[in-house]
Amino acid sequence: MPQTPQKILVAPAWPYASGPRHIGHVAGFAVPADVFARYHRLKGNDVLMVSGTDEHGTPVMVSADRQGVSPRELADRNNALIRDDLRNLGISYDLFTRTSTRNHYRVTQDMFRTLYDNGYLVERTTLGAFSASTGRTLPDRYIEGTCPICGYAEARGDQCDNCGNQLDPVDLIEPRSIVDGSAPEFRETTHLFLDLPAFAERLAEWLSAQEGWRPNVKNFSLGLVRELKPRAMTRDIDWGVPVPVDGYPEESKRIYVWFDAVIGYLSASVEWAHNRGTPDAWREWWQNPDAAHFYFMGKDNIVFHSVIWPAMLLGYGSGGELGAGRGDLHLPTNVVASEYLTMEGKKASTSRNIAIWVADFLSRYDADPLRYYLTAAGPETQDTDFTWEEFVRRNNDELLANWGNLVNRTLVNAYRTFGEVPARGELTAKDRAVLDEVGRAFDVVGALIEQTRFRAAVQEAMRCSAFTNQYLSEEAPWSLVTTSRERAATVLNVALTCVDSLKTLLAPFLPFSSQLVHELLGYEGLLAGPLAYETVTEEDGSTHEVLTGDYGSWVGSWAPSEPPAGQKLREPRPLFRKLPPETVADELARLGL
Ligand code: MF3
Ligand code: ZN
Repeated sequence: MPQTPQKILVAPAWPYASGPRHIGHVAGFAVPADVFARYHRLKGNDVLMVSGTDEHGTPVMVSADRQGVSPRELADRNNALIRDDLRNLGISYDLFTRTSTRNHYRVTQDMFRTLYDNGYLVERTTLGAFSASTGRTLPDRYIEGTCPICGYAEARGDQCDNCGNQLDPVDLIEPRSIVDGSAPEFRETTHLFLDLPAFAERLAEWLSAQEGWRPNVKNFSLGLVRELKPRAMTRDIDWGVPVPVDGYPEESKRIYVWFDAVIGYLSASVEWAHNRGTPDAWREWWQNPDAAHFYFMGKDNIVFHSVIWPAMLLGYGSGGELGAGRGDLHLPTNVVASEYLTMEGKKASTSRNIAIWVADFLSRYDADPLRYYLTAAGPETQDTDFTWEEFVRRNNDELLANWGNLVNRTLVNAYRTFGEVPARGELTAKDRAVLDEVGRAFDVVGALIEQTRFRAAVQEAMRCSAFTNQYLSEEAPWSLVTTSRERAATVLNVALTCVDSLKTLLAPFLPFSSQLVHELLGYEGLLAGPLAYETVTEEDGSTHEVLTGDYGSWVGSWAPSEPPAGQKLREPRPLFRKLPPETVADELARLGL
C-alpha cells in the first residue's frame, strides 16, 4: 500500500561564502543531506531541500579584508564557486540561494522584529572589543586567545573549535587581534540579546522527547540548555542585515550572522515557493505538524540548530508577517551532525590553505568515488582522517572490484550474447535466493538511511552487490552459453534484475553511476538527472543565480525492479576508473607532504 507522501524538509547547513569549501565541509552538510533527500524522493515523499551561501558577518569580512576586496565582491565570487562545487557533486537542492537576497532580508527582519515585539530580544550594555591601534570595533572572529574551558590556544572570540563551546571575547585568556596581534580594548556598547533562558524549560522538554538523534548530539544539546545565557543578536559591524529597531543605525550595527543564517532555511523555502509560482507552498513544510525537518551539518554548528534556532522558532510562534496566525513554525525533527574530517592527519585550515578543495578534487576524480568515500569512511559518528591511500583503495577494491565489476560482467555478457534482456526460464533455489536477498535490502537500507546511519546503509547495499557477484561467479553464464543458452539466459536475467535493483539501492549514494547503469540497462529517462542553474529576479529588479532541479520528473522508486525481457541493452561502459598506485604519491606531493 503506498503511504501518503510525507513533507520532508532537508536542511543542509549554509556554507560560508568566505572561501571555497573543502571535502571536510561537504562531508558534514552536503553529502549526507543529499543521500537522505534522494532516498526520500525515491520513496515517494515530498522533499524540499533548501540552502544557500552564508554571506554576512565577520567570516566573510575577515576573508574579504585579507584579499583586499569588498565583502559583497567576495560573496559573489564564492557563491559562484560553491554553487559549481555542489552541482558537480550532485547535491540535489530544490533551491540553493544566498543570504543576500531581498527576500532573505525581509524574512529575517520580520523574525527579528517579531521576537523583539514579543519581548524576547532585550537591550543590554556589554563590553565590546575594539582595536587598540585603529579604534575600530573588533568583531568576535577577529579575536583569538586561549579557550577558558579547554585551554585550546587558538580559540576564536565567538567559539572554540576544539571543545565546541560558545565563547565571549572577554572570556578568552590572553586575547589578541588576528589583524595585528595587539590586545583588544574592551568598551561599553549596546546590543539586543536573545533571551535564551526564557526558552530553557521548553527547549529541555522538547530535546528530551526527541528520538532518533545521534546520542552525542542530543546529550551535547541538553548540556547546553542547562546553562543558557542571553546571547547578543546584533553586532558592531556594517555588513549584515540591518536591525529593524530604532537606535540601531545600519552604519554601525547589523544583525548577527548566525541569527540571519539559520533563518535561511525558512526564507529559502519561501523563495522556492515564490519562484515556482505557488507562494504559499512553503507552509506545507513549515506550518504542518506532520512534516519532518532534518538538518545536516558539522558538529561546530550544533548549538545554532538545536538551541538558538529552535528558541527563535518558539519565540516567533505563528506571529509576524509569515506566521499570519496560520500555525506555529516547525521545530527540527533531527539535528544530524557529523564529526570532523582531518586530511592526511591534519586539521584543515582555510586561512593557511591546508585542505583538499572540492573543485580541485573533482578536476581529477569523479564525484561518486568521493561521495562513496565520505559516506563509507567519513566522520559520521567520530572524527576520521581522509588519506589518499584509503581513497585509492576504496575506489579500486570496493567500488570498482565489487559494484563496477558486477555491472560490467553482467552487462558485457548479456549485451554480447543477447543484445537485450533475455527472458528467464524456470528459477532455481539459488536464483531465488539472490533475488530475495537483493529485494530485502530495500527495507534494510531504507531503515538505515531513515536512522541517518549512512555508512551502514551503503555497506549493506555493497554487501548485496558482493552477494550477486558471488552468484554470478558460481553460475558462470559465460561458460553456460556453450552448453545451455537457455540457462545462461536465466542467470543473466536474474543478474540483470539484481543490477537493476542495486542501481536504485545505490542511487542515493552514487547518483551519477546509477544513472549510467539505468541507461545501460536500456531504460529512458532520469533516475537521478542533472541539476540546473536559474536566474531569479526579485521585486526590485535585482537578480541572483540559484541551483535547482526538476526532481519531480525523475523515474524510479524505492522498490525492486525487473528489466522487461526483450528490452534493448546499450553498449556497456565502465562505471569507475581504476586509479594507478602512483596516485597516492602524486597527491601527497601536491599537498606538499
Ligand atoms: N556558515 C556556517 C558554517 O559554514 C553554517 C551556517 S548554517 C545556518 O559553519 F543555518 F546557519 F545557515
Ligand atoms: Zn575550548
